[in-house]
Amino acid sequence: MTSTLSAPHTAAVEQATDLAVLTRPDFPLLAQTACLGQPLIYLDHAATSQKPRQVLEALQHYYDHDNANVHRGAHQLSARATEGFEAARAKAAALIGAASPNEIVFTRNASEAINLVARSWGEANLRPGDEVLLTVMEHHSNLVPWQLLADRTGCVLRHAGLTESGELDLEDLRSKLTERTRLVSLVQVSNTLGCLNPIAEVAALAHAAGALVLVDACQSLPHLPVNVKQLGADFLVGSSHKLCGPTGMGFLWGREALLEAMPPFLGGGEMIQDVYLDHSTWAGLPHKFEAGTPAIGEAIGMGAAIDYLQDLGLERIHAWEQQLTRRLFERLQAIDGLHILGPTPDQQPDRGALAAFHVDGVHANDIAALLDSAGICIRSGHHCTQPLHRHYGLSASARASLSFTTTPEEIDRFAEELQGTISFLREHS
Ligand code: ALA
Repeated sequence: MTSTLSAPHTAAVEQATDLAVLTRPDFPLLAQTACLGQPLIYLDHAATSQKPRQVLEALQHYYDHDNANVHRGAHQLSARATEGFEAARAKAAALIGAASPNEIVFTRNASEAINLVARSWGEANLRPGDEVLLTVMEHHSNLVPWQLLADRTGCVLRHAGLTESGELDLEDLRSKLTERTRLVSLVQVSNTLGCLNPIAEVAALAHAAGALVLVDACQSLPHLPVNVKQLGADFLVGSSHKLCGPTGMGFLWGREALLEAMPPFLGGGEMIQDVYLDHSTWAGLPHKFEAGTPAIGEAIGMGAAIDYLQDLGLERIHAWEQQLTRRLFERLQAIDGLHILGPTPDQQPDRGALAAFHVDGVHANDIAALLDSAGICIRSGHHCTQPLHRHYGLSASARASLSFTTTPEEIDRFAEELQGTISFLREHS
């Protein structure tokens, strides 16, 4: 099964070659040297992205000039803070092709956004025996909230499996859709397998079965164009810190009619219309779901990050990262005893810009620790996908994840150091 993006991107491929050169001056952190004067090489973008100076400047400007609470004051600072905060909502809406900014609910992160749907929509709509269909490749954030919901409601969790190549097994998913399925919730790009899931096909199948679809877009939004209408999604969650924005910020998108029908998740200031001693009425969308003072500076920073990505162009980012991903795979595939999880770029050209791998006789944590001493930052462990690792009989893997700032030379140096690290560890084990 091959997933492709809907729009052709030939022009973007032609423009793609200089993206790292173009953007590196914007990322001061990436210019530092590590121990022994070696250049720092950051290949952990899937865990968190680095922030361009445009985002740092937007944060600084907000605190220097506009800091105030939002939606509360008649004064000019509050008006400017509110304007910046709501502009960020509109930018998030535009990024994913939402019908209205009212469909964007700000949350602390994508995990909170999924918990919101599980608590609010899930508790209002699921009865004992109703089914939620997930996949074995899900991040813990798209497993645990549904387990908690199953404990509370008696709903049943089912999980679609994988193909031999480490992609979603669409036939298995189809066979697990029943008349009791109420929701299919899955990741668009796996943070471990890197596969791009065919969300539009999944949504068509789910809708035909009468189920809704929630998309975890954390690993797709920073790397390729995402449009909720083209995907046919009902809910989508995103994370600011994965897309060059600040931490502490994420969002839920939901179709307006669904959000309107859902009860509040958290109670407090901001989410109310009127409060009496014994009951309250709720604010309209999206504020009904935003209790308390929100993360104002972080929202404005995320807005600046979205502007940055949009100015570069997500087609262009994707095309450049596809070139980098091919190079990463070529280098890793040349290493004896190294096994990459997920589809190769030949099997799935639009796959994500990362490679999680394990090496015969060598522990992933040892690889990451030794590479760190050479100034190279990769992730090791289960990457919040323990069931997926268990599926492969692994407790951990190592993962290199790229961004448009990554240079081909960094990939080559990583591969050379990795080869040396593996040889060293084999000799000394
Ligand atoms: N989900 C993040 C990762 O993949 C933390 O590393």
